[in-house]
Amino acid sequence: MFEQQPETLRQTVQQLSATASTDPTGWFDVLYQKAQGDTAQVPWAKLAPHPYLQDWLSQQSQLQAPTSALVIGCGLGDDAERLQELGYGVRAFDVSPTAIAWCQKRFPQSDVHYAVADLLNLESNWEPAEFVFECRNIQALPLEVRSQAIQSISRLVAPQGTLLVVTRLREDEAAPEGPPWPLSESELAEFAKQGLKEVNRAQFLEGDPAITQVRIEYRR
Ligand SMILES: C[S@@+](CC[C@H](N)C(=O)[O-])C[C@H]1O[C@@H](n2cnc3c(N)ncnc32)[C@H](O)[C@@H]1O
Repeated sequence: MFEQQPETLRQTVQQLSATASTDPTGWFDVLYQKAQGDTAQVPWAKLAPHPYLQDWLSQQSQLQAPTSALVIGCGLGDDAERLQELGYGVRAFDVSPTAIAWCQKRFPQSDVHYAVADLLNLESNWEPAEFVFECRNIQALPLEVRSQAIQSISRLVAPQGTLLVVTRLREDEAAPEGPPWPLSESELAEFAKQGLKEVNRAQFLEGDPAITQVRIEYRR
């Protein structure tokens, strides 16, 4: 999450996320509420689709019919809106009611179906989608709940479906400083255990010192 964030925002995230060990998700809505509609106060807000999603979409065959898409932890909605523009039927959810209300305010005419839902406690009536986008959410969750988050994401990928994951990656298994808490290869291996096959991986180095990020495409 939050590449190149100003120091004040970094401190706010550190303070708010101090509760994450006992309540992994509660601080997100507090952050969105504190922002009071100012997107500059949301450290991960790009107000545009994520460039690694855009790049991936630009590589897809124009002949492929758009299909159902699901955006996990959709934040302020830009990724979901981009998919909808391309003709996908899009559902998007976030644990933060304030974020979802913000999406609906930003995009009042949108056909995206926005909902408040908790990935760590997802109702069984969430239908799988043919394309699932998970961008920078797992890395925002403490290590203790990652396996649960990955299992929940995996269940949302339909048979033959595609999952695209964008995340920071760490080099070893030592517990990282955060948030964000970059993922390790052994954490990512949980996707394979859930029946998803890695079919493509792109690695990106951003900033100075360089942050390693990956975009991994999985297929069920
Ligand atoms: C770092 S932000 C990334 C937002 C967006 N995916 C992006 O890349 O811009 C993490 C988002 O995940 C949401 N989130 C965190 N835990 C969640 C959970 N258990 N279920 C659903 N959303 C969650 C937060 O509210 C926040 O909007």
